Amino acid sequence: MTLPLLQIRDLHIRFQKDGAQLDAISDLSLDIERGSTTVVLGESGSGKSLTAKAVMGLLPPGAEVVSGSVRFDGRELVGLADRELRRLRGDAIAMIFQDALTALNPVTPIGNQIAEVHRIHERISKREAWSRAVASLDAVRIPDAARRAKDYPFQFSGGMRQRAMIAMAITRNPDLLIADEPTTALDVTVQAQILELLDDLRAERNLALLLITHDIGVAAQSADNAVVMYAGRLAERGTIGEILDEPAHPYTSGLLGSVPGPEHRGRDLPTIQGAPPSLDDLPGGCAFHPRCALATDVCRDRLPARTDFTTTHTTWCHHAEEALDGQPAAATV
Ligand SMILES: Nc1ncnc2c1ncn2[C@@H]1O[C@H](COP(=O)(O)OP(=O)(O)OP(=O)(O)O)[C@@H](O)[C@H]1O
Ligand SMILES: [Mg+2]
Repeated sequence: MTLPLLQIRDLHIRFQKDGAQLDAISDLSLDIERGSTTVVLGESGSGKSLTAKAVMGLLPPGAEVVSGSVRFDGRELVGLADRELRRLRGDAIAMIFQDALTALNPVTPIGNQIAEVHRIHERISKREAWSRAVASLDAVRIPDAARRAKDYPFQFSGGMRQRAMIAMAITRNPDLLIADEPTTALDVTVQAQILELLDDLRAERNLALLLITHDIGVAAQSADNAVVMYAGRLAERGTIGEILDEPAHPYTSGLLGSVPGPEHRGRDLPTIQGAPPSLDDLPGGCAFHPRCALATDVCRDRLPARTDFTTTHTTWCHHAEEALDGQPAAATV
């Protein structure tokens, strides 16, 4: 059996805030295979970005990994020296941050910004770095890349800037690309093009993609697997088919119900009642219970244990069987 490219085990991340300890991520385990696409779904504040930043070794001040393991290509990243992490970042693992469109330097041509990534990692000539930058812009389908590389960010449209960010991320040929809400700021047609580009790059380069989104429509398009997070924990994980067709967590079903589809046209969209909790006020038991139609006493009292439906489909819900049965044409194994 080959080892997954990324293997997260029982990750626990805590914030120190005003003397209090806040559990931002708990018991998170996740495997990502080479060349596959995994989407991370969940409402705002569920811990999607924080999980990604932990993989990158870029947790914000005040946050620390209390326990658990993040293995990349068999190598433990938790506790790795900064120097080693810096080497891995860009070279092996790259990330497009949530606010990427504002991350480009406005006063430096785009090609130079990409070339710089190489010069940080490797002693190569400016000319060689530049030609690699142009090749990367070409790889993300920027027409006339050699000329456009001399442009400044303001000369690029929003979609082109996002392509430039992707070019910067893949220019060192990483094995894992984390894209945090890569299409949120873009209009719908451009969103689809960016997702298609990411999927093409995945296939061409055997890249593993970790795609963070709160849009299940984005997920459905190209993902192999999905994980659903709620209040810093996994609610459910499975193949994309299992998650979309046989959700076994009421939260997943709620997210799916929130997807605008033809059947909702002209009507109010169904949404999950209420809002996700903040870290300093997490409900006891299953954190989702105050918003859950299936909640009973046990949900208020105890964290749900895992229920495995298949080798890939796992959910953390006291009423998983019931939640699954509530789905049309649910297949229980
Ligand atoms: N620097 C920080 N200091 C304190 N708390 C933080 C910090 N960054 C994140 N958090 C908290 O950690 C939790 C997870 O945040 P995270 O950014 O991972 O959410 P997210 O799922 O990416 O949400 P969004 O969809 O809004 O991007 C939230 O409750 C957030 O308030
Ligand atoms: Mg985020």
